[in-house]
Amino acid sequence: MQKNPVELILKKRNGEILTQSDIEWFFSLYHQGNLPEYQMSAMLMAMYFNPLNAEELAALCHTMIYSGEVVDLRTISKPKIDKHSTGGIGDKTSLILAPIVASLGIAVPMISGRGLGHTGGTLDKLESIPGFNVNLSLNEFKGQLQTVGCGLIGQTKEIAPLDKSLYALRDVTATVESIPLIAASIMSKKIASGLDGLVLDVKTGSGAFMKDLHQARSLAKTLISIAKSYEKSCSVFITDMNEPLGYAVGNWLEVQECIACLQGKPVPDLMEVSLTLSGAMVQLSGKCETLEEGVALSREQIKNGEAWEKFLEIVQSQGGDTAMLQSPQNYPQSKHRLDIPASETGFIQTIDAQTVGFCAMQLGAGRQTIQDKIDPKAGIVFHKKCGDEVVKGEKILTVHTGKSDVVEQVTKRMESALVISPKKVEAVSKIIEKIPMNNEK
Ligand code: URA
Repeated sequence: MQKNPVELILKKRNGEILTQSDIEWFFSLYHQGNLPEYQMSAMLMAMYFNPLNAEELAALCHTMIYSGEVVDLRTISKPKIDKHSTGGIGDKTSLILAPIVASLGIAVPMISGRGLGHTGGTLDKLESIPGFNVNLSLNEFKGQLQTVGCGLIGQTKEIAPLDKSLYALRDVTATVESIPLIAASIMSKKIASGLDGLVLDVKTGSGAFMKDLHQARSLAKTLISIAKSYEKSCSVFITDMNEPLGYAVGNWLEVQECIACLQGKPVPDLMEVSLTLSGAMVQLSGKCETLEEGVALSREQIKNGEAWEKFLEIVQSQGGDTAMLQSPQNYPQSKHRLDIPASETGFIQTIDAQTVGFCAMQLGAGRQTIQDKIDPKAGIVFHKKCGDEVVKGEKILTVHTGKSDVVEQVTKRMESALVISPKKVEAVSKIIEKIPMNNEK
């Protein structure tokens, strides 16, 4: 029987189950440019309210993977391990762990995204490095993996192109926060990229798409079930995203923080997450038995300078200006830099990550519409983190922007994002839990 888009939207809207052929037909039609965005938007909203079951999700993931090609990386003899995060604020771990892992002789075929909603994106951070090219062709990407051991790129037209168009549409139609849609989006591009193993960082908290632990666990389990069905090994961690990760939020500001970390500066929460994830990547590669050994090997790569050297090599081979990385003080600064002081004496209890994400976006670090151009210099630098003691009037953060008209509003919003407690507050571990896949050590 001839299918009709309106009937399928109606079916899903009314809570009925779509067949595999319904899903393949509807999404392929859109991918071929024969279904308008308003009908796809309506379907995504129906799927948001009536989440896909396991069979529907498998059909969607399959359609997304095969909307392009599944990259064949068999010519690269090293194990190929990637990491993906569900998105957060100040989440710059990719820039730290990719060179760590590549410097250990493991290939890192990293296909990243741009900022989505209030969260930042690895591609935007990389592009803040003058000259850095994230648009390598598939052949250049393979060459980069062969020679340097790591490629940091955006989705090419070959890799899950349907995810790319749906991702942009979901961003502007309030349909991001759906567990099956997020799972299909992440896993389709990862499976299509030809990797052997994947470490997943599922973020939970105010700045994450999964606001509570229950949702995060459910997403983690859904991601694992897809990995299993494609016979990919994976490790999943649930990590805290109630406060921004590290001190910097905003593209170049974050790159600068990564440079410092790769040179050995201790940023406890950021390094805790980066080293745990890189340790898990090393473990998945088979280079060590346990996560602890993977973390120790990763830590050593920072100490001996090899991770920093590898980062310079990656940046250079992708056209980036390594002189700027070596002398970050030469990077232009935002015209407006304003300090926000503590309103009282006490201990920082909350720095609300979601508000920070929206403020950073308003300052120019993210896009409010698809057409917006990012200001790489814009963002927020914290001088204090949760658990730190502050004295009234002491500087807590500095906003950086080129837009004088947003400073007042952002200052007010940022003040509302901070809670200072008279009682001592303990800084908590950012690693909430590891979700086991098989019989892991
Ligand atoms: N990251 C992705 O790759 N896709 C989503 O839908 C959300 C986060």
